[in-house]
Amino acid sequence: MTALAEKALPLDADTLPPAVGFPRVIPQIDTASYHSETTYTTPLRIGETAVVNSRVMLAPMAGVTDLIFRSLVRQTTPDSLICTEMISSNGLVYSKRWDAQILDKSLEDNPIAYQLAANREEVLVEAARNIVAKHRPDTLDLNMGCPVKKITGNFEGCALMKDVDHAYTLVKAVADAVDVPVTVKCRLGWDFNHLNYIEFGKRMEDAGAKLLTLHTRTRSQGYKLGVQWDALGHLKQAVSIPVVGNGDIVTPQDAKFVLDTYGIDGVMIGRGTQGEPWRIALIDHYLKTNELLPEPDLAERLRYALEHTQKMIEYKGEGVAVREMRGQLPWYVKGFKGASAFRGRLTSVNSLDEIHALFTEIQCLD
Ligand SMILES: Cc1cc2nc3c(=O)[nH]c(=O)nc-3n(C[C@H](O)[C@H](O)[C@H](O)COP(=O)(O)O)c2cc1C
Repeated sequence: MTALAEKALPLDADTLPPAVGFPRVIPQIDTASYHSETTYTTPLRIGETAVVNSRVMLAPMAGVTDLIFRSLVRQTTPDSLICTEMISSNGLVYSKRWDAQILDKSLEDNPIAYQLAANREEVLVEAARNIVAKHRPDTLDLNMGCPVKKITGNFEGCALMKDVDHAYTLVKAVADAVDVPVTVKCRLGWDFNHLNYIEFGKRMEDAGAKLLTLHTRTRSQGYKLGVQWDALGHLKQAVSIPVVGNGDIVTPQDAKFVLDTYGIDGVMIGRGTQGEPWRIALIDHYLKTNELLPEPDLAERLRYALEHTQKMIEYKGEGVAVREMRGQLPWYVKGFKGASAFRGRLTSVNSLDEIHALFTEIQCLD
């Protein structure tokens, strides 16, 4: 075991305190200086049909990983599996909106995973069959990790971890219904008193899941406090299908560390890509070659932000696009000295002209 791995706390229901409100703060592992000579060049096989030439994937993020953001990621990342936003099976099937924008896909999107949220077997199967027939995703992912009340209250997302039999039924039904590999994204469990990810993972494998992604937090943690990367090693030992690690993996060194330490098959990056669509490429390159590429400078970041905005305008029209970009623009300048002063202005822009003008001011920060 490496010195860094020793720093990770063992995840074991017996050693964790009972959940009273939020659990204790779990220290983060500092991977900044982590280096190993191992490279990851072997393709990842998912089920019988999907072969992905990268060990790093883009996480599904509602409101972020739409067609346009994925196209920016794809520019620098030809090989990685990228995921759509979560798509509501109920929403699609009941509204019959098979032309909904959330389903849009371009040719460059492949390899792509479409992610579905569901609570009813027949609805999930109808949604899955339609998506597979129309869009031919490489994989279909089921969301069993979302902690948001609106979703869990509908018995979707992480609520399914509370009823493993029902989750099993859903996975089996959809795996039997479509000819693309079905994967599952889950968490450690509902809360620290219900850390059932091992049992859950095994049952999902029995039901026909061909890959598991584990966000190493409980539903009760939301997105806060430390992750429990050790759980990845435990899950990997318990199942035979590929395991992908997720949660606070941001740098190329983080990715290498979890792959090396826990023997897992891939990593999935979420928030690290917000305002940084090149991040998957940096990680992919490091994993394949051991070479750390430089992070883009401010000018390059602004160029990406502008391209993102312009593509959104072409896709959705200026009004909607600029409103939606208000949430994304601040990410492109995060970390730059003086950028925080522009945050408020970036989140209240009304037009492309205003964005141009602000960027001209921000450029002077460099
Ligand atoms: C804005 C936002 C939207 C998200 N939407 C989804 C989603 O639609 N489906 C899903 O399975 N997870 C979703 N997640 C969770 C991420 O996929 C990921 O599991 C989580 O952010 C932890 O990974 P990270 O630390 O790399 O961000 C979302 C997270 C964020 C921050």
